Amino acid sequence: MSLRKSMVNRGLLILTCFFSFVIQLCLASKTRHFKWEVEYMYWSPDCMEGVVMGINGQFPGPTIRAVAGDTIVVELTNRLHTEGVVIHWHGIRQFGTPWADGTASISQCAINPGETFIYRYKVDKAGTYFYHGHYGMQRSAGLYGSLIVEVGEGQKEPFHYDGEFNLLLSDWWHKGSQEQEVALSSKPFRWIGEPQTLLINGRGQYNCSLAAHVTNSSSPQCQFRGNEQCAPQILHVQPHKTYRLRVSSTTALASLNLQIGNHKMVMVEADGNYIQPVAVDDLDIYSGESYSVLIHTDQDPSKNYWISVSVRGREPKTPQGLTILNYQTTSASKLPTSTPPVSPLWNDYNHSKSFSNKILALMGSPKPPTTYNRRIILLNTQNTINGFTKWAINNISLTLPPTPYLGAIKHRLSNAFDQKSPPENFPNDYDVMKPPTNTNSTYGNGVYMLELRTTVDVILQNANALATGVSEIHPWHLHGHDFWVLGYGEGKFRKKDAKRFNLKNPPLRNTAVIFPFGWTALRFVADNPGVWAFHCHIEPHLHMGMGVVFAEGVHLVKDVPNNALACGLTGKMLMSNYSHH
Ligand code: C2O
Ligand code: CU
Repeated sequence: MSLRKSMVNRGLLILTCFFSFVIQLCLASKTRHFKWEVEYMYWSPDCMEGVVMGINGQFPGPTIRAVAGDTIVVELTNRLHTEGVVIHWHGIRQFGTPWADGTASISQCAINPGETFIYRYKVDKAGTYFYHGHYGMQRSAGLYGSLIVEVGEGQKEPFHYDGEFNLLLSDWWHKGSQEQEVALSSKPFRWIGEPQTLLINGRGQYNCSLAAHVTNSSSPQCQFRGNEQCAPQILHVQPHKTYRLRVSSTTALASLNLQIGNHKMVMVEADGNYIQPVAVDDLDIYSGESYSVLIHTDQDPSKNYWISVSVRGREPKTPQGLTILNYQTTSASKLPTSTPPVSPLWNDYNHSKSFSNKILALMGSPKPPTTYNRRIILLNTQNTINGFTKWAINNISLTLPPTPYLGAIKHRLSNAFDQKSPPENFPNDYDVMKPPTNTNSTYGNGVYMLELRTTVDVILQNANALATGVSEIHPWHLHGHDFWVLGYGEGKFRKKDAKRFNLKNPPLRNTAVIFPFGWTALRFVADNPGVWAFHCHIEPHLHMGMGVVFAEGVHLVKDVPNNALACGLTGKMLMSNYSHH
């Protein structure tokens, strides 16, 4: 930036500060700088040594804490030696900085080994977020961490609490992410199987239940006492206080259920948006979601209590993840007197649906427009392409192009991706309750071009997978926006179902699930110039093509750093043309 331009900018900033009612607010908003190096390293997330993708020698990566209005600057250096990397800031909308969204082939080129890329973006809304790799299967490799945004100075949360904890949930395989990737792309297809361990803040105990350990501390497999990397993080609390638990899930696969022995949880935040407080005994959380719950420490203070995390939605073959809620009035090493809470049955979908339907926007939250301009119906199917097993949306399995869409669209590079818009619907006679009659699908990388500031409805339609009687849960995540969840339904979506949409207090979220054989209706306003991924947050599913790309107002995008877009033949040509002008 030229000196003059930056002085003008500063002048504007001072002016805005001067006129803002709360001058403090202005002074308080900070730029927070981070220098990160991504590298492979040996680690024992579940007491078994393996290789993880860490940041600055840490796993999970460092937690970013900021205040709403702050600017985050992350100077990210790739120390992976043989592969590219990017980091996506999940839940941050990136208004004005779509190039900082951290999606390989969409918002930027993967950062080459040895190179540095600078992410600079504003965190405009308080809430519980996280970040993760968004290239290949790097999230499965362990590239993730928390991003917590506190309310701006002078602002208040609509609830009170005395202290807070952060629980970042993930799942872990002993098979490395590279082998997983090869398995998924093999013919015949090889499924990666269920995770070995569930991790809480990157810590789990394989082959060594914490519960067993406490009763039998001499158990030979249970060696985490000496292994700081896998020892559970205990939550130390005082009696008669209120604590906020920030829970987020960056699992590659698992849908989870969280419980705290003897303690009810009051949900107050979902994906960085306030919700109507609602008390629950157990919390369903799908990959890509985050919640804040309040707990009141009103139980017997001479005891400790289990915090358990279990698999839901797939037949669980993974032991519970556990840690302890310790009343500081007693010793932290004391075993809770009861067994860890047991989650609802994995396939009790009625329980899951009633849970999801309890989540409603807090009074006074932004309401959705009452009508839509465009309705896009997305059928999720499992298919085959030349013998490879894939997922497809309206019969197109997403394969990302070498030149990132953001630059390709901005500079009208017509040969960088499919120029034909993908289908808005699927054939009327498709039976969502049965396996596809013709399993064949095709690869594609077309874009849904959205008119800026229009209201878009998306109906996610689930269907039977390749095997008879099987339909899976898919948590869909939208980049660059929050959407309103207007409703969930069973079977095939019919026009008249729209009459039942909740337009009164639908929750704003960035991730929403489709239940087996069901549909989910979403509404959002395409108000953020850029190119945005919308995909299933189950990493193997995305990798197998389960996603689409939206774009809006790309001609308005400014200040894209050159190194974000100069890759792929067309991208490189473009950038070299530019530098000659
Ligand atoms: Cu957290 Cu595109 O994902
Ligand atoms: Cu999926």
